[in-house]
Amino acid sequence: MTTTIKSVRSDYLIIGSGIAGLSLALKVSKNGSVSLITKRKIFDSATWRAQGGVACVVSEADSFEEHIHDTMVSGVGLCNKRMVERMVREGPQRIKELIELGVEFSKKNYLSSEFELALEGGHSKRRVLHAGDITGNEIERVLIRNIKKRENIAIYEDHTAIDLILNDDKVCCGVYSLSNDSGDIKIFEAKLTVLACGGAGMVYLYTSNPGVSTGDAIAMAYRAGADIANMEFVQFHPTCLYNSGSGLSFLISEAVRGEGAILKLKNGKTFMDKYSPLRELAPRDIVARAIDSELRIRKENFVYLDISVKSKNFIIKRFPNIYSKCFECGIDISKDMIPVVPAAHFFCGGIAIDERGRTSIENLYALGEAACSGVHGANRLASNSMLEGIVYAERVYRDSLQFVKKEYSKINLRSFKNADFLINSESDVFMHEWEEIRRTSWNCLGISRSNEKLLKAQKKIGILKDEIEQYFKKASFSVNGIELRNIIFISEMIMISAICRKESRGAHFNIDYPFILSDAKDTIININKVKHF
Ligand code: SIN
Repeated sequence: MTTTIKSVRSDYLIIGSGIAGLSLALKVSKNGSVSLITKRKIFDSATWRAQGGVACVVSEADSFEEHIHDTMVSGVGLCNKRMVERMVREGPQRIKELIELGVEFSKKNYLSSEFELALEGGHSKRRVLHAGDITGNEIERVLIRNIKKRENIAIYEDHTAIDLILNDDKVCCGVYSLSNDSGDIKIFEAKLTVLACGGAGMVYLYTSNPGVSTGDAIAMAYRAGADIANMEFVQFHPTCLYNSGSGLSFLISEAVRGEGAILKLKNGKTFMDKYSPLRELAPRDIVARAIDSELRIRKENFVYLDISVKSKNFIIKRFPNIYSKCFECGIDISKDMIPVVPAAHFFCGGIAIDERGRTSIENLYALGEAACSGVHGANRLASNSMLEGIVYAERVYRDSLQFVKKEYSKINLRSFKNADFLINSESDVFMHEWEEIRRTSWNCLGISRSNEKLLKAQKKIGILKDEIEQYFKKASFSVNGIELRNIIFISEMIMISAICRKESRGAHFNIDYPFILSDAKDTIININKVKHF
């Protein structure tokens, strides 16, 4: 089937509908027209599924210095201190804005004005604001409700961005995208384009992420020549519900360990004291590696998480969503232990941005998990990501004000107008490649890497990428094919970055280089030249 090309113009183009994209849309809509495009429905985002919460200094017992310190320790020497300081110090104001919009974080009790703060791994204080165990859902609900009231925000659901459009001066002018239902190709032209469509957990066989997390933003930016940073640092969440069937894993929030849950082996013995004095509340990379190592030694499929020390009333009140999901699976967590495994969870790296949210491409910004701002370093501190999303939304908003008054950049649309785009509606033609990429990433680019595994990944990914790119040269698009092309690019970026890093640090562990080098630097890659500083 061939299709027609339509064009849409707006001051701002925001791709992605998680906390970062929606917060930005609300802010910038005061100053200009906004097109917000999202691949499925507006609530289909990693934010919607986020359980834990937003880390922020809101109590007298806590301090900015301690939050900064915990973030830096978790990031193992690769955090940009200035960026961390700004994020932590600007946090309370951004939280206040969310509350003013209507977000209801859990309070100590019905009459109290004091927040009930959660503890998570790597935090020295209780500082995680949450809404029960469905925090992301509450934040999205409120942001979407507010967005829908704004007349100058046009929401395009079921629109899959294909690639960025750069003009002859390498200035970003927007994207072209596929309308999933009609098969139309739309050109979204904008003065400012913002990539905020999350991470890429779907690159891995097992992930806590939703199906939409196929690294679209990072892959598009990479193909356009933007600098991409620290892709080797993929954070694995230690405790996802063990599910022998599906690749999508249900998260058992770190807050469960924060409330006293203990990790145990099948024989009932605890093991975390062998790996860290912080035991269950050590930073995530340490806990995930500890579980992975126990599973390998014992050739077992899962370990257990035990929260049965807490009363049933407490568990149901604090973790209603986790309780009922486990109950559906036949596990009453107030008395049964929960079988858990690590799964790919968060990309600490992404599109390199500066403190204003600008990428290395003119008129292109990036936000949220898609971006690498320097605040996460080699391993993100739990619940810092939604904080980063709202802080950088404000930063992009402020920086963008000077641009919206300008004219649209010149764009050469001839090549698009002359092209006949072929739409391929068969969704299962690539199933083999999907499976192959996800399995290769899991086996060779997972929690524990080695030179041999990286070499294997290099060979496999090279062959698969050639095949997929050949298919794309025929300009034949389907949502499934667009996503597949993106995950192969992401897998390649992780592989290149992991090969460049000749040490083990944070979320990157290579058994052939088990030590930490003293001069830590970011890994910056660019499609035009691979460089490592
Ligand atoms: C969790 O609830 O454990 C996830 C929180 C996060 O990834 O920050």
